[in-house]
Amino acid sequence: ERHWCVVPAAGTGQRFGGVVPKQYLQVAGRTILRHTLDALLGHPLIAGVVVVLAAGDPHWPDEADAHGKPAFDKPVLTAIGGDSRAASVLSGLERLPADVGDADLVLVHDAARPNLALSDLDALIAAVRANPQQGGILGAPVRDTLKRAGEKRSIAATEAREQLWRAFTPQMFARGALSSALRSVRSKGEAITDEAMAMELQGAHPLLVEGREDNLKITTPADLVHFEFLLGRRA
Ligand code: C5P
Repeated sequence: ERHWCVVPAAGTGQRFGGVVPKQYLQVAGRTILRHTLDALLGHPLIAGVVVVLAAGDPHWPDEADAHGKPAFDKPVLTAIGGDSRAASVLSGLERLPADVGDADLVLVHDAARPNLALSDLDALIAAVRANPQQGGILGAPVRDTLKRAGEKRSIAATEAREQLWRAFTPQMFARGALSSALRSVRSKGEAITDEAMAMELQGAHPLLVEGREDNLKITTPADLVHFEFLLGRRA
């Protein structure tokens, strides 16, 4: 059995700055989005991808058309995103082929995480297949000491980091459970920053699967340089 993945790429990337959305910046001859899609589609257990785009995205056609030839060797479908991450992922879930059922496990992966390792996908898929009701996400324990900021940037407290993890993607859940969690978030206007949070708001406790620290989320120009460096080392 193979799994579909929804890739939200409808964000405008306000934090990064610049004219081209960050997922369309080029690194080593390919866009960030293309690196991300190639990493996912290169895994034998991934069936296909739904890319969620901003309405009227002018950059996607170039990505999907490699000089008249299909640019991908597995199905890549598109959906139009909404004004929140939850709405965008929901739109992607609705676009999944009809043979994907409510109990089927699906993944969600940020367009802005191009450095996904096959071994991390292996680990997540294995862990969640063993606990399909619970679902799970890739993450890593926090390494730095964490301070809570108080007045005028003074330290109000030091947080106990032993139980704190960073949340990455992919995140993997049963399609029906994730859809209803996201619909609930959307109708209540709750702000979520990942899919696990939507599940948690329904009382779920998804698994934390330890992944590689270099599963970068491209957020600033320095992250691009870091990704370029990692690619160079891989070659
Ligand atoms: O803004 P942030 O970096 O957290 O976005 C994570 C991912 O979600 C990005 O790939 C972005 O394109 C996507 N997104 C989306 N629709 C939104 C907001 C964000 O598809 N409305």
